[in-house]
Amino acid sequence: MRLTEEEKAMLDGKQGLAVQKAMELLVKYGEVVGAENLVDTNSVSAGIRAVKSPVADPDIDPFDAYFCEFHLDSQEVFPIPRVKASSCTILQQLDPKCWQIQGAQREAYELAVEIEKNCCRIGFAPAYTCAPYLVGYVPVKGQHCAWMESSAVPICNSVFGGRTNTEGFESAGAAMLTGKIPNWGYHLDENRLGHYLVEVECDIKSCVDWGLLGYHTGWIVQEKIPVFNGIIHQPELRGLMVCSAAGASSGGVEMFHIVGTTPEAHTLSMAFGDRKPENTIKFGHRERQEAYEMLQTASCTSVDFVMLGCPHYSLEELWRISIMLEGKRINSGTSLWIFTPRAIKAMADSAGYTEIIEKAGGYVMTDTCSSVAQIAPEGAKTAATDSPKQAHHIHSMMDLPTWYGSMEDCVNAALTGKWEGKLSL
Ligand code: F3S
Repeated sequence: MRLTEEEKAMLDGKQGLAVQKAMELLVKYGEVVGAENLVDTNSVSAGIRAVKSPVADPDIDPFDAYFCEFHLDSQEVFPIPRVKASSCTILQQLDPKCWQIQGAQREAYELAVEIEKNCCRIGFAPAYTCAPYLVGYVPVKGQHCAWMESSAVPICNSVFGGRTNTEGFESAGAAMLTGKIPNWGYHLDENRLGHYLVEVECDIKSCVDWGLLGYHTGWIVQEKIPVFNGIIHQPELRGLMVCSAAGASSGGVEMFHIVGTTPEAHTLSMAFGDRKPENTIKFGHRERQEAYEMLQTASCTSVDFVMLGCPHYSLEELWRISIMLEGKRINSGTSLWIFTPRAIKAMADSAGYTEIIEKAGGYVMTDTCSSVAQIAPEGAKTAATDSPKQAHHIHSMMDLPTWYGSMEDCVNAALTGKWEGKLSL
């Protein structure tokens, strides 16, 4: 790999041992994937592992040991300096306020508090969300990023025109200490062109439609780049978030184009460059119905758990829910858990939305989600959600039969305890 003088200095240890280790890791990673150089990054969105420090030596800082082992893949321990790139955390395993309701143990809560304190010490900001762009981490077109979360990566690449691969704990950890990431994959122009042409033959208007489009497409294209053609209605961010998360769960979609909407697909020929589509598929009424049916894994219409906020809800969704719940009461045998970043919850608290939701009997939770933390109310037998990704994971990872539908269907299920959702025509 070609390294700049600055990068060589880091590799030679001139900026400390931890930075040297991080640079070694990035060079090794870059060589394996065939990167010719590193690029600067000032946007890292990285996971943290909820594990105890592996050392008991009182002379070694436990966070340094933790970070070296789990975020730099190093058995040697070095002092971890402050981050060089703007960096924030993705989800953790619990909400630091609602952890008891979520069934977490005190030990896990205390460990989370300790890790957070130390992340803040090095400038690794506690955003705790899969939607960092909702809380200020917004890439501009062409900006190189090092993001980890599978639903956020397609939003970064497709909607904002940022450039990121789906990084791992170690590469993201190294990126935050060096401000560098290997220049390969989605950082390169030639890897951002479409592979599959998806002719959309039905009207995509609601978030449910976007979710079904993403879920169906992900199954077929897996890790390729789909180009959606024929979308008539201007999408809103929420629909694109749901679509991204869905395509990243049924497949491994890291980037998509919407002709006439997303920044690298003003036209069909711009989306494919000088290549022809490898394949053309269609998404019509039949495919929409099939995807919907595939996501319904429940048969019992009694619902005892409603999970909303996958990807994490924005303030707008909390506002909409608060309107639906104002002056009402959730069914006594049903739990409503709504997930959002903690920064958004702070605004919802100020705006009075949280109070309305809590008065109705729901919870606004932060920092985590059901499938990441494998949490559901004790004894829950049937869930409902407005997210294909969550429906997919709640069923497959937690063995909990799940209904998928609109936000309105889900709020209605929380109020009545019954699933009455239907796919609208
Ligand atoms: Fe986010 Fe959890 Fe969904 S990480 S995208 S809320 S599965």
